[in-house]
Amino acid sequence: MTGRRWPLLWVALVASAGCGQSELELGERIYLQGRGEGARLDYRQGPTWLARAGQGCAVCHGVEGQGRVVQAGTLTGAAPALTSDVLKARGYDKQSLRRAIVDGLDPSGRQLSYYMPRWILSDREMLALQGFLETL
Ligand code: HEC
Repeated sequence: MTGRRWPLLWVALVASAGCGQSELELGERIYLQGRGEGARLDYRQGPTWLARAGQGCAVCHGVEGQGRVVQAGTLTGAAPALTSDVLKARGYDKQSLRRAIVDGLDPSGRQLSYYMPRWILSDREMLALQGFLETL
């Protein structure tokens, strides 16, 4: 009886591992290329060159989430590091991270500068992106 359960358990494990993999790929694609489930992700604000460049978070926050200085016209701004350690130290949890990405507010309620686009993401895309950020 117990012996017959193993194949089922195996199938469930393989299925969930495969699913996790594709969610991570989706999160990585959003982060690196700004492409979600469909085409280009939409956002409000952000520098005008971003629409031409058609990029994701990495163009400003760095491929490994290390942070970068970004340019908008004659102005420069610093895109902070987004590694999981840094985000935790800044007081972010899942809820406040979503607020920063979508509404442009940090954990204390401060408005992030207009350089930081306000992203429009589906629930699935947000979860996948947050899952990917945890790997940085
Ligand atoms: C055009 C450049 C640019 C892009 C693209 C961009 N950001 Fe930002 N982001 C910024 C800047 C600049 C700040 C700092 C704003 C401030 O402190 O006022 C910031 C701040 C943040 C913060 C707040 C960090 C903190 O320490 O409080 C988070 C979280 C964040 N960005 C996530 C993302 C994610 C996720 C993406 C991709 C979906 C993304 N950003 C894409 C420029 C960018």
